[in-house]
Amino acid sequence: MPAISVRAPAKSILVGEHAVVYNRPAIAFPINQLQAKTTITAKVIGNPDEIEFHAPDINFHEKFSDLPKDHPYKIAVSIIKKEARIDHYPSCSVQINSKIPIASGMGSSAAIAVAIIKGLSQFIGLSLSKQRLADLAYQLELHYHGTPSGIDNTVIAFNQPILFNKEKGFHAIFPKSDLTILIANSGIQGNTKEAVLEVRAKWKIEQKKYEAIFDRIGQLVLNAEIAINTGDAINLGKIMSENHQLLTEIGVSIPQLDTMVEIALSSGAFGAKLSGGGLGGNMIALAPPELIEKVAENLRKAGIQQIFFEKIYKVENE
Ligand code: PMV
Repeated sequence: MPAISVRAPAKSILVGEHAVVYNRPAIAFPINQLQAKTTITAKVIGNPDEIEFHAPDINFHEKFSDLPKDHPYKIAVSIIKKEARIDHYPSCSVQINSKIPIASGMGSSAAIAVAIIKGLSQFIGLSLSKQRLADLAYQLELHYHGTPSGIDNTVIAFNQPILFNKEKGFHAIFPKSDLTILIANSGIQGNTKEAVLEVRAKWKIEQKKYEAIFDRIGQLVLNAEIAINTGDAINLGKIMSENHQLLTEIGVSIPQLDTMVEIALSSGAFGAKLSGGGLGGNMIALAPPELIEKVAENLRKAGIQQIFFEKIYKVENE
């Protein structure tokens, strides 16, 4: 029976979250050890539009026809029908799996959006450029995520480190040396939508102050790109830590994340910060390879259970 299977990685924001919503740049990278996956199997007997959706991780099993109009899976099918200019989608079973922790700042919803759009398009032989894939996944995300900046779906669809600016677009980044990163989940679910709304409310009251903070974050991101391009992990670490202070100032950190940052720094990390929307979710630390296990050990001692190690690899000849 014809079947296809596609994947999309998780992501982490290295520097620049929140300010990116206000048209400053941000840098993000994919995390390929954590992925969302869509598997689509044709149903031999079945009428057009007879589609089943299975998301076993969350015990979700529904028929397309039984889903409410605004359900993301239903919207995904309409997006693809419109793109392919077809009235009906072939009968099939769509299975969605994800190993990405939810509400943790790791792009779980964007990865699922990219994996569904990629799967539904490939299954009917519709070829999408990476940019079109990113755009259609963004359309899908808009339905359940307010107004995301677009950094998540872009870094995930292109699957490479990028510097992203909402207004100016993005470009790939080519690290001069490997970067050893640790990502630790605080265990407290973040809430990006709420965090973005809270920042917006405060920005309205104190625009001058917030614009100045976003300007500084934007400058830090440009400095971070230089540090990455020149293999200067020490400076990149300092930039990340300053970025964390600024995220604290705009009110999106929580004491647990601040403590995790302190533990990472006192264990020898070059730098550490919360990553993603905040109010929970994860912390990322950049550390010398020989100290990364020590950072993890000290975080585990403080009760942190979910820790991932990731390398952003240097790119030769760029
Ligand atoms: O929490 P995440 O991984 O969805 O990241 C949100 C990043 C923000 O800059 C806070 C919002 C956005 O849309 O860019």
